[in-house]
Amino acid sequence: MVKVTIIGATGQVGSYAAHAISQIPHVKEVSLFGRDGNQLYLEGLSRDLRDSFAARGTNTRISWSCDEKDLRGSEIIILASGAPRKPDQNRLDLAVDNARIVAGYAEKIGRNASETLLFVVSNPVDVMTGVALRYSNLPPHRVFGLGTHLDSMRLKSCIAEFFNVHVSEVHTRIIGEHGDSMVPLWSATTIGGIQINNLPAFSHIPKDEMMERVKTSGSLIIRNKGSTVYGPGDAIATIIRTIVEDEHRILTVSAFIQKEVHDIGSVCIGVPARITRGGAFPVPIKLSDDELEAFRLSTEQIREITHLVFEQLESEEILSV
Ligand code: 2OP
Repeated sequence: MVKVTIIGATGQVGSYAAHAISQIPHVKEVSLFGRDGNQLYLEGLSRDLRDSFAARGTNTRISWSCDEKDLRGSEIIILASGAPRKPDQNRLDLAVDNARIVAGYAEKIGRNASETLLFVVSNPVDVMTGVALRYSNLPPHRVFGLGTHLDSMRLKSCIAEFFNVHVSEVHTRIIGEHGDSMVPLWSATTIGGIQINNLPAFSHIPKDEMMERVKTSGSLIIRNKGSTVYGPGDAIATIIRTIVEDEHRILTVSAFIQKEVHDIGSVCIGVPARITRGGAFPVPIKLSDDELEAFRLSTEQIREITHLVFEQLESEEILSV
């Protein structure tokens, strides 16, 4: 039985994820973690969730804390703290502000829960996963992020809707940055298990239009209703269930790659990874020339902003000494 701690539970994604995760069979406790000063909100949220569990007949325990010592015993920690993206703000603008928050929590996690699986949700998630990996001192397979799993689900939904097929009949994958440089793997897209290039009825798929919709979905939802909640929340719960139930599914998460995708390495980015109770393990893949060129550009962008963020954090550490 597993204790899952959600850091940033007072946020909309964190609190919805707590509700979704509590329904996973082997999750025995959901612990809500917030920064000092949020005690009243956390008490209110935990009572609200406890009422929901009672109404639903769920026996999951709910707890809350602002004390880093209570991170202990968490088999999985979800790091969802940080400022949400503003409607016309791209994810990379968020990077330094959220990196300070993520780095601080990552150090606390490294001190109190060195055996945990650290799952990063804060944006820009690829950069934040790299920050969490560095500042937690946990091994790479135990620090990974939501990445382009949510984007892959958005594309899956677009394709299913366009062709009026059940969403579970569509398998597709987007790799790279959870952001504008994301890379759809059309070569890995199937409907009913058949590659779309071998389905004449589906050859007119409007690829560019669908990718534009996927890339702008987050901004549109934020602009129209303030934040994305149910999409990321259930995407997080799916990945947590895959870990808890040791399902060995291959999902596209932000993970640290070294040589799994051609010769590209030393960056946290959206790639297919085997998700198990032990963590996330990138699966070596071969890309087409076009896909590889786009993926290389995406990784270079993330590697560059991650480097700039590390430089900024290090300069602040030096100044704070
Ligand atoms: C999303 O794409 C905001 O990154 C978040 O929904």
